[in-house]
Amino acid sequence: MTVTARIREVAPPITAAPETESMALTVHDLVTEFRTRSGPLRAVDGVSFAVPRGGVLAVIGESGSGKSAMLRSIIGINPPSARIEGRVQLGHRDLLAMSPRERRRTRGREISMVFQDPLTALDPVYTVERQLTETIRKQDPGIGRGQAVARALELLELVQIPSAAARLKAYPSELSGGMRQRVVIAMAIAGRPSVILADEPTTALDVTVQARMMRLFREVQSEVGSGLVIVTHDLGVAAELADDVAVMYAGRLVEHGTADEVLTRPAHPYTEGLIEANVRPGQDRRPNAIPGAPPSLRRLPPGCAFAPRCRYAVADCWAGQPSAATVAGDHWSRCLLVPAAEREPS
Ligand SMILES: Nc1ncnc2c1ncn2[C@@H]1O[C@H](COP(=O)(O)OP(=O)(O)OP(=O)(O)O)[C@@H](O)[C@H]1O
Ligand SMILES: [Mg+2]
Repeated sequence: MTVTARIREVAPPITAAPETESMALTVHDLVTEFRTRSGPLRAVDGVSFAVPRGGVLAVIGESGSGKSAMLRSIIGINPPSARIEGRVQLGHRDLLAMSPRERRRTRGREISMVFQDPLTALDPVYTVERQLTETIRKQDPGIGRGQAVARALELLELVQIPSAAARLKAYPSELSGGMRQRVVIAMAIAGRPSVILADEPTTALDVTVQARMMRLFREVQSEVGSGLVIVTHDLGVAAELADDVAVMYAGRLVEHGTADEVLTRPAHPYTEGLIEANVRPGQDRRPNAIPGAPPSLRRLPPGCAFAPRCRYAVADCWAGQPSAATVAGDHWSRCLLVPAAEREPS
């Protein structure tokens, strides 16, 4: 990528995500600030995006960029030390404006989350049947026991667990990592939520199982019709499964667009660096990994937070935070400089 021109067209309303009824999830100007002993730490800083029903958004970015804090703010499970601002809409309802009780009721039924480690989501002392039927009955209190078991069985079949009936009677420790993650996915979809959040859902699994699991996740999600936000380190996963990709750096989204646009024609030098390094967990110091480290969120450099590591940085990059600029269509980047070839003709 050669940076040859300064973008002329700056599009201020880009951060305002479209708010149509077809959107499963609309996040607008989300801020998450943790109160810490050494002062406030802004882990999420003005993030906006929307995910349509049945759509998949992959969020990529190095460790510490705020991906988990963002998902936790959306579903409402950050600790009380977190101050959260902005709007998080399920359809047209604002989750952040709900009472804690109302909000809890949305979890599992309308929005659910899959974590990296399936063991944290499963209780070792209960069988799969007990855990699944409990989730089902919470979503649908009127359902009879027999019906709940039948639904649990259907869910295990949906996530392609072989000998599903026998697995219902198993304890989590009796299942392989892949099977456990399937159970967790089954629990996440049990209430047919309109939104599923997934925080690196396959990282704990064997590499060979990961791709299969992600495909299964996509199948199940599109069957239920949920919007899916998936945090992943694996750009291959993002390319294969996601409709859109958002790139997060130091608490901000720096680039957003269709997976194809962002991953094949990156317009932010950070995205370009991630693609070159193809960062995977445990391997993020490849020879061509991005030099340097992400900044401390307590001491962000003035201007573009990526400037100190950016091979294209010019003096203006330190002057102020770049606003989002259209690259093409819905593809935008928060970079003062974009390659001329990738600009929309003006
Ligand atoms: N409860 C908390 N209290 C204080 N700081 C927190 C808290 N949770 C997260 N942070 C800080 O917020 C920043 C973002 O963390 P987060 O876990 O969201 O990053 P991430 O992008 O998910 O990283 P990884 O890829 O390693 O999972 C980090 O600096 C982290 O230390
Ligand atoms: Mg994380």
